[in-house]
Amino acid sequence: MTLLLLVSSLWGHTSFATTLERHWERPIAFQGKPPEGFSPLEASLNPKACGTCHPIQFVDWQGALHSRSMGPGVVGQLMDLREDVQGVVGCMTCHAPMDEQIDEFLDGRLPEGVAFPDDRGLYLTGVSCGVCHVRGHVRYGPEPRIRRPMEGVPHGGFKVSRIFEESRFCAPCHQFPEDGYSLNGKPLENTYREWLESPYPGEGKTCQSCHMPERRHTFKGIHDPGFTRKGVRVEARVDVEGEKVAGVVRVINEGAGHYFPTYVTPLVVVRVYQVDMEGRAIDGTFEEGKIGRYLPLDLSHEIFDTRIPPKGSYDLEYRRELKGRALKVEVTVYPDEFYTRFYQSMLARGLARRGKALIEEALRNSLSSPYILYQETIPLIP
Ligand code: HEC
Ligand code: HEC
Ligand code: HEC
Ligand code: HEC
Ligand code: HEC
Repeated sequence: MTLLLLVSSLWGHTSFATTLERHWERPIAFQGKPPEGFSPLEASLNPKACGTCHPIQFVDWQGALHSRSMGPGVVGQLMDLREDVQGVVGCMTCHAPMDEQIDEFLDGRLPEGVAFPDDRGLYLTGVSCGVCHVRGHVRYGPEPRIRRPMEGVPHGGFKVSRIFEESRFCAPCHQFPEDGYSLNGKPLENTYREWLESPYPGEGKTCQSCHMPERRHTFKGIHDPGFTRKGVRVEARVDVEGEKVAGVVRVINEGAGHYFPTYVTPLVVVRVYQVDMEGRAIDGTFEEGKIGRYLPLDLSHEIFDTRIPPKGSYDLEYRRELKGRALKVEVTVYPDEFYTRFYQSMLARGLARRGKALIEEALRNSLSSPYILYQETIPLIP
């Protein structure tokens, strides 16, 4: 609620906020009977159907996490939640919010009267094309880059809506409302507000500018090493004075439009240590710093929040006896650190029943996502 008030006061006219609010009423109401003359392909909500005519968007989307938002970690939990309909709908509000998807998940079948019988498994398509673009079988999209006549365009043409080019478009799923679950005065998901308070709105840089360059649907984020490297720079400086090594490793959030990282689930670890001639780590020379918003599994409080604000930086100081030939600096990203702990605990406490195999798969996935963001070996002895 507060978020929408904020939105309308910022924009200065309410009709915009109302459009946004209406577009993002969730669950997204049943599309209903397809209009006369729609072919099964035009009536389908399956991203594959959209992909026959929009192949670039489809291939991008398939490679992005939005297509996997009903992955094993989510479905595994929902399977044991199934009797708690409210709970399931709550999660699917962001992970697969169309009524067709929710009904199919809860009842195991698509609702009757749906004209696209091939759409089994629609709930597994998660944040699919229809979630963002289709309401009542009408396609909504941004102002086309090249204007063309609407005649003959399939699916009865489309409606242009300015909300697609605004950061607020992403907020319903990437920002908890101000009165939603918060810790230390910060909503658990706070990406939109972090962006709003950053220099980027002033530069005209929206979520889409960075996450949908040229309108591509790649939505790369912290799970993508190349993308993250472009937004985050690391500098290491070291001095040797007599028997002492002193230095500082600086991690700079140069290009993320919000805190690095924005969510409570990733953790970034900076490690500095000395190595011998063979490159082996030397005991007693380790220094470690953790960048993240770290919570216990019950989300009851914040243990620390060392995340880096937009354009800000994080310093790890290093001061040790000189013992080795070189100093190693490593910055490792654990995109799913919280989930690893969470799945391990679920399995250890026997909380995963019907969803057990899926939670085991999700745990394996979360253990395979870490990567080294930055690595350097600095000689200490000339
Ligand atoms: C039979 C081919 C066909 C199918 C199937 C189809 N589209 Fe389209 N769509 C088009 C054409 C042609 C246009 C006109 C603009 C263009 O050339 O991209 C268009 C336009 C659009 C636009 C407007 C783009 C803009 O510039 O704002 C959106 C959004 C869209 N489609 C979404 C979808 C979605 C989502 C699906 C699946 C649920 C879908 N379409 C299925 C052919 C198709
Ligand atoms: C209907 C809800 C919804 C909307 C709207 C939405 N997202 Fe997402 N987004 C999700 C979910 C859920 C995930 C997590 C998918 C997963 O990993 O299971 C996600 C993942 C992402 C990721 C990948 C993050 C990573 O960890 O690498 C990025 C980037 C992203 N979204 C950006 C955006 C942007 C930009 C917009 C607006 C144009 C947007 N999203 C709109 C629900 C949404
Ligand atoms: C307000 C929107 C929202 C709601 C409600 C929500 N999520 Fe998410 N969820 C997200 C976003 C956004 C991400 C991606 C964050 C990231 O980049 O790691 C995500 C990520 C996840 C992931 C990790 C990614 C993956 O696919 O394994 C799991 C598991 C998950 N959510 C489960 C749930 C469950 C279970 C519920 C209900 C109890 C729920 N979520 C409710 C938005 C939401
Ligand atoms: C998370 C929301 C989201 C999802 C999922 C999504 N889109 Fe989009 N789409 C957008 C936004 C936002 C834009 C406008 C981006 C901009 O203007 O920078 C857009 C733009 C488009 C356009 C216009 C492209 C252009 O070059 O003018 C088409 C066509 C389209 N999407 C089709 C699809 C299809 C097909 C799928 C599924 C394969 C899909 N979208 C999935 C949010 C989404
Ligand atoms: C100036 C470019 C830029 C802007 C603007 C931007 N992002 Fe990001 N985003 C990044 C970069 C770079 C990363 C990878 C580093 C990171 O995780 O912070 C990222 C990561 C993410 C992630 C991954 C999860 C995580 O914990 O970091 C999500 C989700 C996301 N962005 C959503 C959004 C949304 C929603 C908006 C708009 C409110 C937005 N971004 C605005 C550049 C940007």
